[in-house]
Amino acid sequence: MAKSKGKSQEADKKAAALMAVREVKGGMKLGLGTGSTVKYFIEELGRKKFPGLVVPSSKASEDLAKKSGLKVTTLDEVAKMGFKKAGDMGGGLIDLYVDGADEVDRTYNLIKGGGGALTREKVVASASTEFVCIVDESKAVAKLGKFPLPVEVLPFAKAFVTSELEELGGKVVERKKFTTDNGNIILDVTGLDFSDPLQLETELNNIAGVVENGIFAVRQPERVIISKKGKAQYM
Ligand code: 5RP
Repeated sequence: MAKSKGKSQEADKKAAALMAVREVKGGMKLGLGTGSTVKYFIEELGRKKFPGLVVPSSKASEDLAKKSGLKVTTLDEVAKMGFKKAGDMGGGLIDLYVDGADEVDRTYNLIKGGGGALTREKVVASASTEFVCIVDESKAVAKLGKFPLPVEVLPFAKAFVTSELEELGGKVVERKKFTTDNGNIILDVTGLDFSDPLQLETELNNIAGVVENGIFAVRQPERVIISKKGKAQYM
């Protein structure tokens, strides 16, 4: 039973990823997310011999992109090539960012970071003109917050940040045997009040020692592709 659900979920992840590939044009600079859904996107770009540059959001996606024959670069290198428009400091660097999510609500707020890559994911998403989120139906929720919110924290600040999160009503669990690509720890937090995701995202990032949290409300995706029974569609 669980096995066949796993199989159909994989088919859904792949269907969403392949639909996102249809948005890709030859000369684009692409941002690559992280995780088991975006893996299908990266592999398909490789199969199609995508000729443009890609900026991965993690070491894992970088390795997969290289293995798939893609031209990997960094945001710093892209910046040296010049912005598209004068004064275009953010969205002009990357044309399209494609990534999965752990939860998505009806107004496109996300929880991300199940794979621990949330900080670089948010940086690349924020540097992108367009962000397309690809999910299977299990990720759609009426309200964010069932999935434990990943918070990337400086190891030095663990005790302080934990107590601040607890003050906000959070139950905090440190992710075991895990270090982010930036050398930090992840605290997975349940019990926070998600009635205003934008406000919560900002409040958490104002705690000294928090590097980033996994709420994507400031930088929401422009489009969400959701897949059910192997059929992908725009949400
Ligand atoms: C990694 C992420 C992923 O996008 C998120 O965890 C979804 O992953 P998957 O596609 O494997 O379900 O935020 O940090």
